[in-house]
Amino acid sequence: MTSEKKSIHGQWSSRLMFILAAAGSAVGLGNIWKFPYITGENGGGAFVIMYLVCILLIGIPIMMAEVLLGRRGRKSPINTMRDLAAADGLNPAWGLLGWMGVLAGGLILSYYSVIAGWALAYVFRAAAGLFHGLDTGGVGTLFNSLVSSPEKLLAWHTIFMFMTMFVVAQGVKNGLEAAVRWLMPLLFVLMLVMVGYAMNTGAFSKGLDFLFAPRFGDVFYHCQAIDGRELCEFSWKPLLIAMGHAFFTLSLGMGAIMVYGSYMPKRTSIAAASVWIAIADTTVALLAGMAIFPIVFANGLEPGSGPGLIFQTLPLAFGQMPYGRLFGALFFILLVFAAWTSSISLIEPAVAWLVENRGFSRLRASVFSGLAVWLLGIGTIFSFNLWSGERYQLFGMTFFDLLDFLTANIMLPLGGVLIAIFAGWLMSREASEDELNLAHPLLYRSWRFLVRYVTPTAVFIVMLNALGVF
Ligand code: TRP
Repeated sequence: MTSEKKSIHGQWSSRLMFILAAAGSAVGLGNIWKFPYITGENGGGAFVIMYLVCILLIGIPIMMAEVLLGRRGRKSPINTMRDLAAADGLNPAWGLLGWMGVLAGGLILSYYSVIAGWALAYVFRAAAGLFHGLDTGGVGTLFNSLVSSPEKLLAWHTIFMFMTMFVVAQGVKNGLEAAVRWLMPLLFVLMLVMVGYAMNTGAFSKGLDFLFAPRFGDVFYHCQAIDGRELCEFSWKPLLIAMGHAFFTLSLGMGAIMVYGSYMPKRTSIAAASVWIAIADTTVALLAGMAIFPIVFANGLEPGSGPGLIFQTLPLAFGQMPYGRLFGALFFILLVFAAWTSSISLIEPAVAWLVENRGFSRLRASVFSGLAVWLLGIGTIFSFNLWSGERYQLFGMTFFDLLDFLTANIMLPLGGVLIAIFAGWLMSREASEDELNLAHPLLYRSWRFLVRYVTPTAVFIVMLNALGVF
C-alpha cells in the first residue's frame, strides 16, 4: 500500500509512457506543417535561431514547471491550479489559468483539426497516384481544389474530429501507446527519406543556407517594391512568432502537458523527460525544414507562400521519386497520426474537468467538448474560401490567422509565464524541489533562476515589443 496521490483518471502504465505521450502531443502539425511555413514567411535562418533559443531558455524550463504542477495536483488543470493555490494560501482565482487553457485548447483544436483534415485528404490523393508527374502549377491546382471547397474541408474536418473524440472517450492511455511507440519512429525514418530525396534536388545547400544561415536583416525588415521603390519596414513580430511557436510546438501554456503530468508516476524524472521531449520535437521540425526548403528552391517556389507550403512542395517530390505513391501515402498517414496524438492533448484538459466537476462520463464529455470545437472549426474552413476576401479580415488577418495569432502568440506565452511565476515564486521551494528531485542542487538552482527571472522577463519584453508598446 502506498499513500501516493494519484489521478482519478488513472496513471500512465510505465515510466516511458509519459515521455511517449508527451512527445506524441508535442510532435504534430506544428513541426511538419507550421514550422516550415512560418520559417519561410519570416526570412529563414535567423528566425530558426531565435526559435531554438526560445526552446532552450523558455520552453524547457516552463515544460518542467508545467509537468511538476500537474503531478503535484493530480487533477484537471483548472482544479490543479485551484488546489495548489489553496495549499499555499493563495487566491483560488488561479483556477482561471486552467480555464484560459481550456479555452486556448479548444480554439487551437478548432483549426488544427481542419489542417489535419487536409493531411487526411492527401493520404487518398497520394494513394490514388494523383501526384504523378505534376509540375508546380499542377500541385497548386490540386491544393486549391481542396481548400476552395467548404464541403470537402467540412467532411475531412468532421472525420478528424470524430477520430479525436473516439480516442479521448476511451481515456487517453488506451490506444495511444502503440501509435506513439511504433508510428512516431516510422515518421522519423520517413522524414530521413525525404531529406535524402532533398539532397538530390540540386538545391540542398541553398535550402540549408536558407534554414540555418542567420540573416537578421531578412527577418526584421520586410521589404516591398512600391512604385519601383523598395520600401522596408522594421518589425519585432518575427521574434514574437518564434517565441509563440516554441510554446506551440512543445504543447506548453494551456495545460496539455500539465494534465499529462498529472498521470505521471512519481519516480519518473521530470527534467530528463522534458529534455528528451524537446530534443525529439526539435529534431523532427528541423528535418521537416531540411526536406522542404530544397524542394522549394529547386522548383522555384516561394518560401513565404503560407499554410499551403508542405502541401505544395512534398507532392512534387512524391510525384517524381521511385515508389512515390507508396511513400506519399505513408507520409500523410503518419502525419495524420502525429496530428491525432496532438489533438487529443488539446481537448483532454476540458474533458478531465467535465468528468471531475460535472460528473460526465468520458464519452459524454468528449462528445460535448468535441462538438463545440467542431462548430468553431467552420470559421477556419471559411477562412480559406468564402471568407478569404479582404472584407472578412481584421488587421489583414483571416479568422484562421486571428485564431492562430491569438492562441500561439498571446494566450500560450501568457499561460506559460503564469505557470512559471506560480512554480518559481509562489509555490514553496520545498514543494518544487521535492517534485523535480534533481540530481544536483546546481541544476535546481538554474531551473529556478530561469523560471523566476528569465522566462517572465523575456516573454513580457518580446510581447510588449511586438505589440508595439515600446
Ligand atoms: N504541439 C503540437 C504540435 O506541434 C500541437 C499541440 C498539442 C499543442 N497540444 C498542444 C499546442 C497544447 C499548444 C498547446 O503540433
